[in-house]
Amino acid sequence: MFQSGGKRSAVLGCLFVLAAAPSGCSSDEAATPAVDPTLAAMGKDIFRFDTFGDETFWTDTLMMNTVISTAVDPTTALTVGLKVDAEAIPADVVAGVQNGTVSLTSPATTIALLKLNAVVGVKGTVESVGGVDTLTRVGITCALCHSTVDNSFMAGIGKRLDGWPNHDLNPGAIIALSPALPADKKAVYNSWGAGKYDPRYNQDGMNGPQVIPPAFGLLGINSITATGDGTDIAYWNRYVAVTQMGGHGTFTESRTGVEVTNGTDDQVSAKLPALQEYQRSIAAPAPPADSFNAAAAARGKTVFEGAGKCATCHSGSEFTDANSKLHEPSEVVSEPEPGGVASYASRTATKKYRTAPLKGLWQHAPYFHNGSAATLDAVVETYDSKKTLGLTADQKADLVQYLKSL
Ligand code: HEC
Ligand code: HEC
Repeated sequence: MFQSGGKRSAVLGCLFVLAAAPSGCSSDEAATPAVDPTLAAMGKDIFRFDTFGDETFWTDTLMMNTVISTAVDPTTALTVGLKVDAEAIPADVVAGVQNGTVSLTSPATTIALLKLNAVVGVKGTVESVGGVDTLTRVGITCALCHSTVDNSFMAGIGKRLDGWPNHDLNPGAIIALSPALPADKKAVYNSWGAGKYDPRYNQDGMNGPQVIPPAFGLLGINSITATGDGTDIAYWNRYVAVTQMGGHGTFTESRTGVEVTNGTDDQVSAKLPALQEYQRSIAAPAPPADSFNAAAAARGKTVFEGAGKCATCHSGSEFTDANSKLHEPSEVVSEPEPGGVASYASRTATKKYRTAPLKGLWQHAPYFHNGSAATLDAVVETYDSKKTLGLTADQKADLVQYLKSL
């Protein structure tokens, strides 16, 4: 209600300005209504805890509840990158972990953590069967890949950081634990590694895993995913919820031929406005004060805008021209894909790339859609050589400091 009202008045205001002075109103401003905090709060719960009914896939098809109950003790769970929300654990359990009476090498402890709703992005139903706590249903939420924790309790256990990609998570290795998959598919899932996931493999059969990107810093950006497939966040949320997570609902896209319907009870559509609003509300995290050299960063800004020619594409307040154009793969330094993999763009709806927004870069190495640059130094080296910029060593070092400061 409030959101659409706000959007309408912004557009009307913009038309008014347009009529008066054509240059005074950019389409970007019109498309960026303020965040509605009530809607965003609803979306936070959905982002963290909603499975959209995907237990049908993770339990009935993949049988992950059995896998977890027999083989996934907390230590194993932390090894594949799962995170535990320390704030969901009561004091006596915390004390038990500290004094060793709660075993981190027993799957029963994992079930206890799931019962407390403390495993980030994993939602379990725990019921007493013959007097024993039993994991009868399990599903996943958006937080699995797009949240981590601050490790304040111990490595892998701490306060939630929503929107931060979980680059410790090995989604392929987790899926490959399912007894329901044939060996050839398991081999593909096991090939991805930590921090990567191919959100199209189960649709087009090609194997080219993507770095899990942040779900923060998207306010005002109307071109979603590395290839700008969606004109709003909800487009891609629907895609993932239905085609990847296995939630109940429908996704159709004529540009790629993807058509998926799960179940007859749509558990996705009604939640998308709030879910989107929550993601719009998550700002990119500011870099820690001591994480870059401010004087070098100030010099690097002039390289970014001058000799590096970065600002020709990374323009405006979000450092991207994504709202007005996409780029051909030939313009983009991260192609060809490493290892002879098919162009990611070729598998998508647009066949092009979106200039990546740059705020919060410090937080989410590796870089580019395929993770082909391990560090920001590698990013700058890649641009310098592929675009023959001829930057000096000092210019490159300053540019890296600037990127770290965004
Ligand atoms: C299994 C891991 C996984 C899960 C679960 C997942 N995502 Fe993603 N997400 C990805 C990957 C990988 C991409 C990159 C896709 C691309 O760029 O083509 C992505 C892309 C995105 C983007 C685009 C970011 C940008 O910069 O445009 C958003 C937003 C997002 N996901 C939100 C969500 C939400 C909300 C959910 C729950 C409905 C979700 N994701 C579930 C892995 C995941
Ligand atoms: C022709 C337009 C263009 C120019 C010029 C350009 N970029 Fe990019 N940049 C892109 C696109 C498109 C992507 C996304 C590529 C991908 O995902 O693989 C990107 C990605 C990046 C990323 C990775 C972001 C992430 O989240 O992984 C960084 C960092 C970056 N550029 C920095 C720079 C710097 C520094 C310069 C100048 C030396 C520069 N870019 C020049 C278009 C451009």
